[in-house]
Amino acid sequence: MSATVSETVYATPDELANRMSTAGVHALELFCVYIGDQLGFYRALHDRGPMSAPELASHAGTNQRSTREWLEQQATAGFLACDNPQAPADERRFRLPQGYETVLVDPESATQMAAFAQIVAGTVAPVQQLLAAFRSGAGVPYAAYGRDLHEGQARVNRPAFAHLLAQEWIAAMPDVVARLQGDPPARIADIGMGQGWSSIALAKAFPKARVDGFDPDEASVAAARENARAAGVGDRVTMITRDAGDPELAGRYDFALAIECVHDMSDPVAVLAAMRRLVGPGGTVLIVDERVPDAFAPNGDEIERMMYGFSVLHCLPVGMAAAPSAATGAVMRRPTFRRYAEAAGCHRIDELPVEHETFRFYRLRG
Ligand SMILES: C[S@@+](CC[C@H](N)C(=O)[O-])C[C@H]1O[C@@H](n2cnc3c(N)ncnc32)[C@H](O)[C@@H]1O
Repeated sequence: MSATVSETVYATPDELANRMSTAGVHALELFCVYIGDQLGFYRALHDRGPMSAPELASHAGTNQRSTREWLEQQATAGFLACDNPQAPADERRFRLPQGYETVLVDPESATQMAAFAQIVAGTVAPVQQLLAAFRSGAGVPYAAYGRDLHEGQARVNRPAFAHLLAQEWIAAMPDVVARLQGDPPARIADIGMGQGWSSIALAKAFPKARVDGFDPDEASVAAARENARAAGVGDRVTMITRDAGDPELAGRYDFALAIECVHDMSDPVAVLAAMRRLVGPGGTVLIVDERVPDAFAPNGDEIERMMYGFSVLHCLPVGMAAAPSAATGAVMRRPTFRRYAEAAGCHRIDELPVEHETFRFYRLRG
């Protein structure tokens, strides 16, 4: 037997069973958060203050009995408070505890987590297709995951784009900042921009710059256009339905970036090569992708467990939906990314000294 065989984490079958039971309870509670998020319950409780089930149901246009069950579930889980639990059921008043709106309502809060419930719901939406894909190897197209995955993904990253993208990530490259602030107005290519919050954040942070977003998913591009228009930057941000691996993709940009998407691509080398081409010899490419350890090891930390969860259920299947595929998945380790970048002709790969719990930042030049 190998000396490096990994230890089991759970000492007994009972411990494992307890862990799975707890995971099931948490999953159920996350889907109940999804209900409250999608039906506007949290928003209503935040905007209007404590409400009874009939009041909330009337405000949200939902069934009273179902709404009462949800309120009781939320109070049982500790997500809402109940001011008078002894009162008759329909007279009980529930409220969103002070500060919880940062987790459940505010779209740009760093601790926003309702979006996480939505992305998890989207991740399992095509579960039958996923089972079939496991057998066939054909993958599951990104479009099949639908609105919850696309919007959930966009919402999960939106706070970081609003507060960190320009302020910390791009700030770690002073020469790029100078170019993006300078004249003639800089041009930015945002590859795989999804619903466009990164492009919008860049346009707001660099008021002279123009941003072109490229993404092959039509639904995401349509949402990104609307988001840019509503954010008031529609005149400087253009969203284009296009696969960035298209060898005919042309243009001249000062800066190209791809955030949390290279690991989803069937041909990451083609996209990295295209990004290099778009910025030319003097330009910078920034790839933001998952911060995972350099090598596989059992019993990983919570971040790696999360990445593997998304990878099995979504990232790897979408990457395998086109053939041939590099079949990367969310757990794109540093050596894998370096191999792709070198194959795309990048000879200088630097990691930015930016602290982030889940992202690593690769600057490519030359
Ligand atoms: C996980 S989402 C990330 C979206 C966005 N960058 C964010 O962080 O919220 C991955 C995105 O990459 C896009 N994508 C996948 N392959 C692509 C390709 N070859 N060219 C451009 N975009 C691609 C998908 O359509 C999807 O919108």
